[in-house]
Amino acid sequence: MPDTMQAVRIHQYGDTDQLQLETIPIPQPQANEVLVRVHAVGVLPADNKTRQGFFKNFRPITFPYTPCSTFAGVIEALGANVTNFKVGQPVFGRTTNGAAAEYITASIATIAPKPDAITFAEAATISGGATTAWSALFDNANLQPDQHVLIHAAAGGVGLFAVQFAHWKGAHVTGTASAANLDFVRSLGAETVIDYNVVPFEDEVHNMDVVLDSVGDDTTSRSMVVLKPDGILVSLLGPPDQAEAQKHGIRAMNNTVITQPYPSTSLLQTIADLMASGTIKTHIAEEFSLADVRLAHQRVDTGHSRGRVILRLT
Ligand SMILES: NC(=O)c1ccc[n+]([C@@H]2O[C@H](COP(=O)([O-])OP(=O)(O)OC[C@H]3O[C@@H](n4cnc5c(N)ncnc54)[C@H](OP(=O)(O)O)[C@@H]3O)[C@@H](O)[C@H]2O)c1
Repeated sequence: MPDTMQAVRIHQYGDTDQLQLETIPIPQPQANEVLVRVHAVGVLPADNKTRQGFFKNFRPITFPYTPCSTFAGVIEALGANVTNFKVGQPVFGRTTNGAAAEYITASIATIAPKPDAITFAEAATISGGATTAWSALFDNANLQPDQHVLIHAAAGGVGLFAVQFAHWKGAHVTGTASAANLDFVRSLGAETVIDYNVVPFEDEVHNMDVVLDSVGDDTTSRSMVVLKPDGILVSLLGPPDQAEAQKHGIRAMNNTVITQPYPSTSLLQTIADLMASGTIKTHIAEEFSLADVRLAHQRVDTGHSRGRVILRLT
């Protein structure tokens, strides 16, 4: 193994020009960590928001900073105390140490073995997409069979999993998307898909048990009127206005992670098994090389990816 590697780093908050490909030492895995040779990295909207400094007041970062957190790769070395993973094992999951690099370290609490039946790129779409959809629908909203759920941004990296999980649970799914994604969202199991550019969703949808909002702004308040009394709005974009929720007689919450660590090995494994069996599928919006990380971030910044943008290293 070489001593150095290529890694993406930023030295200050800013636009995609801040993303630099640099040569730095390969990190050492600490206790309860593994060193992973990275094959694929998911680029989340949160990675772009972090780069731009949106979270700097409550989640400041230390520079130089390597962006991205969701990955898949092969274990290269084990830190102290690691007995449940082995060198050469394909894994995927989340790291807080920066994923956009040739080698990364990750806690064993937030990774899982990658099934052979899914690719590294597919596995890199699970954390931050599928895990978020799962916890919002099943932990926060406690979605039940036969309930009616509205899923906004149903073609996105979270939404595409949310539609499938809700359908798999036996709920009736309505999704919102633009014209180019209507058939795609239907293919995921949505009974109704609304083109948000053509018709206000609140004209079409009523008496929902649950709304999953990953769009925010006025979509959050407009979603409150489509819920039945005591229905649940789960927002991925910050705490909804409680006075407004009370006025509509609904419950509104920010998505909160109930299990720690998050995502847990068992949640990652559950979702990967559903994908490996063909029950749930993912979608790669586009793959970029590590050298093209700026293009990848620009693609995510459009806000109109179908599925997840991936950095592909091998
Ligand atoms: N709090 C958390 O834990 C958490 C976790 C994950 C994500 N998030 C946030 O949730 C948001 C979505 O994440 P993501 O990964 O799903 O993003 P994404 O993959 O970038 O979502 C893109 C999708 O959004 C759709 N879209 C854009 N504007 C829309 C609108 N007005 N109505 C309906 N759909 C619209 C697009 O569909 P069209 O191309 O058809 O327009 C596209 O398919 C992001 O802001 C992210 O930061 C929060």
